[in-house]
Amino acid sequence: MEWIVKQKNDLKPLYEEEGKIGFGKYYTDYMLKMLYSKNKGWYDAEITEFKDISISPAALVLHYGQEIFEGMKGFLGNDGKIRLFRPMENMNRLNRSASRLMMPEIDGEFVLEGLKKLLLLDKRWFPKNKGNAVYIRPTMIAVEPTVYLKPSDEYLFYIILSPAAGIYGLKELKLYAETEFVRAAIGGTADIKTGGNYASAFYPGKLREKFDALLWLDSQERKYVQEVGTMNIFFVEKGKRLITPKLDGGILPGITRDSIIKIAQHDGYEVEERKITIDEVVDNISKGIFTEAFGTGTAAIVSPVREIFYKDNSYAFSFETDLRNYFYNKLLNIQYGIDEDLFNWVEVIE
Ligand code: COI
Repeated sequence: MEWIVKQKNDLKPLYEEEGKIGFGKYYTDYMLKMLYSKNKGWYDAEITEFKDISISPAALVLHYGQEIFEGMKGFLGNDGKIRLFRPMENMNRLNRSASRLMMPEIDGEFVLEGLKKLLLLDKRWFPKNKGNAVYIRPTMIAVEPTVYLKPSDEYLFYIILSPAAGIYGLKELKLYAETEFVRAAIGGTADIKTGGNYASAFYPGKLREKFDALLWLDSQERKYVQEVGTMNIFFVEKGKRLITPKLDGGILPGITRDSIIKIAQHDGYEVEERKITIDEVVDNISKGIFTEAFGTGTAAIVSPVREIFYKDNSYAFSFETDLRNYFYNKLLNIQYGIDEDLFNWVEVIE
């Protein structure tokens, strides 16, 4: 199979001010898509104009939520070249999500080949400032028209692009440690990227709307810290050691999370991936042992956490140390091609 490219003549007006691009406001001129059927496998791979898709009101995804997605970014370096960051990791995670929800796997190499063509076609949309990028959203949905309860025999896979800043900008976040509701469970879909994990956060998020985001606790005991939904979480012990919840099936295995762990270890910081209770977190903040915390994710980049609210009390980090900015800059400098790509993570698109 080959990618068919259908170019168009009438391009959309670009965003006016890069400083106001925000997150999820703009979409580029083109998209990539391909179809799947049980008999044919993947077919009709094309790069075409960004436009509405048409599916049956009976499409399985609309009833039973058979849907998965990814979040990745393309960066424009000072040399004018587009860069992808560990893109095969996203392809592999998408396939793990697919297998959990009985969806077909994609050929990661083939999709990346199409994605590169798409990015080059949409190059004019790339923001110039460090921290801004083209957010890439690969998505797969079940489109077989049936309300019968079964895995779909037909799928649509597509990738759309959205020029974007970090989802939280430069905000220092206030988190609410959620003791009532849960995001997802171990053994359920907690460690894959599927829409339901995010939809389930809307209602508790509305209840805690004075806060920037929820800090999820484990689904059984509400005792162990998990993640923030939009990002994984790291606690900093006196500027020397990073502590982050381990991959126990209850959190998304973040690619940014993994990258920060590897950069930190390379730079001589100790990293502990382990179970961590919310009681230990607030106790360590109160004693000045945890001096800062930050979240990591494709959309969130490295976002500072200023305060955690737990059981009627607020616990503020002292910010006496500054690893949040250290890792923010380290990560971006690799992604934009400013620093040497020590780990071989960056793919330059020629
Ligand atoms: C990402 O960081 O790519 C995500 O999918 C988070 C999303 C809620 C914006």
